Amino acid sequence: MQKIKISPSILSADFSQLSQEIKRLEDGGADMIHVDVMDGHFVPNLTIGPPVIKSLRKHTKLIFDVHLMISPVHKYIKAFADSGADIITFHPEATENIDETINLIKNLNKKVGISLNPNSQIDLIKDHLSKIDLVLIMSVHPGFGGQKFMPEILKKIEALFNIKKNKNLHLDIEVDGGINFENSKLVKKAGANILVSGTTIFKDNDGNIKKNIEALRTG
Ligand code: DX5
Ligand code: ZN
Repeated sequence: MQKIKISPSILSADFSQLSQEIKRLEDGGADMIHVDVMDGHFVPNLTIGPPVIKSLRKHTKLIFDVHLMISPVHKYIKAFADSGADIITFHPEATENIDETINLIKNLNKKVGISLNPNSQIDLIKDHLSKIDLVLIMSVHPGFGGQKFMPEILKKIEALFNIKKNKNLHLDIEVDGGINFENSKLVKKAGANILVSGTTIFKDNDGNIKKNIEALRTG
């Protein structure tokens, strides 16, 4: 049985007090912090960049699981690495050369993730799976928190988990978007071992972060 990790998305946090929100997540038992970076070009929303990540870095030792929804992505990788990102996840559609972007992240001694949108298939990245640390499967179209989970992606998680098993790949399968206490059971059963959640963690059970993280992990 895989160890399940919870990566709360700060997109649903109070941006006027992000350091305190990160402390709440840490005290609530988060395994890492999911940082949604959006540029208003790759996705129709705009969030934060390297200066904010840099200022948050000193407030926690937790892994910064940075999800780059930006394009072109290659020229910004070093800035995110220098700001304190630990895992840098990019979308294959946002680079001209997937291998080059993977190698750049690795040469900066960071973990590499690739994210698949709901309409993007595993074939797009099958030749790279042995070189990366994580695949982030989107269960919503990226850009906003609070969207509805798309159950059709469960088959993609299962297919990826089978490839991981058959090829003995050391790959985390992370799922992101609309995760709640019901569908978290489904994505774990399908083979995901890292769950991203914003709305459910920050809003459910009157915002009881510890309870929500635990329920996603063990429910
Ligand atoms: C969407 C982001 C997700 C999102 C998750 O583009 O990548 O991380 O913030 O938030 P919820 O859990 O509210 O769907
Ligand atoms: Zn995300």
